[in-house]
Amino acid sequence: MRIKLMAGNWKMHKLARELPEFFRAFAAAVGFVDEDAFPASTQVLFAVPYPLLDPATKAANSSMPGCIRIAAQNVHQDAQGAFTGEVSVPMLKDLGVGATLIGHSERRQYFGETDAAVAKKTKAVVEADMLPIVCVGETLAEREAGTTEAVVRRQVEAVLADLPNPGHLVFAYEPVWAIGTGRSATAAQAQEVHAFLRGLVRKRYGDGIADGMRLLYGGSANPANIGELMAQPDIDGALVGGASLKPDDFAKMVKAAQQAH
Ligand code: PGA
Repeated sequence: MRIKLMAGNWKMHKLARELPEFFRAFAAAVGFVDEDAFPASTQVLFAVPYPLLDPATKAANSSMPGCIRIAAQNVHQDAQGAFTGEVSVPMLKDLGVGATLIGHSERRQYFGETDAAVAKKTKAVVEADMLPIVCVGETLAEREAGTTEAVVRRQVEAVLADLPNPGHLVFAYEPVWAIGTGRSATAAQAQEVHAFLRGLVRKRYGDGIADGMRLLYGGSANPANIGELMAQPDIDGALVGGASLKPDDFAKMVKAAQQAH
């Protein structure tokens, strides 16, 4: 059985001083306060801006010791060098951060991240034995042109091509038209792409890895639609933007995931 993963993506939101109250409210709403009581079937993670990595880790551990992982939202592929403004894998590890998003559509769209860069970053993170959450997904124009599978295949195969062993790799399927729009993919639309994506992984690595790999859905996931999404056989969790900023909403989603298949 795959361990479910509910990942919040805070994007460029929140300040350090707001975090103790956030995690207090989240712990109260989710109803589990320490590792022993927290259901092992569902992991909870928050991807936060770099300056919040350390304060979020402390605030989460103070309210819910051992229950929450804190992740970065991006990482550079090189270990060090003259790359002003960038952060490397060893720097994240040094802070005790073991996970990061890679290739979010906002990174691809606004910061020019290419499939090749996403592949290099993923390789660096996998080689460091960290957890990469690699985001893929089509734009509205691509969906309307009937090229969803071709786009997802291109994005996924770019990552897998140079990765003999995917380690802890997680893919998040996030249709760009669903992100921050309030217009989620239907559960059936999401399942269709997830099954396709798992098939790509199966072709490359075989059944063991394909059946063990976690695939998240992202794009206007919320407390009202999470149950139906999580009921799909190939959806193992969600990457949640807006709703993860609200402790009560995200707690409801985590509880729904804990109760799902
Ligand atoms: P959203 O964002 O849940 O606000 O649509 C999801 C994401 O961008 O990861």
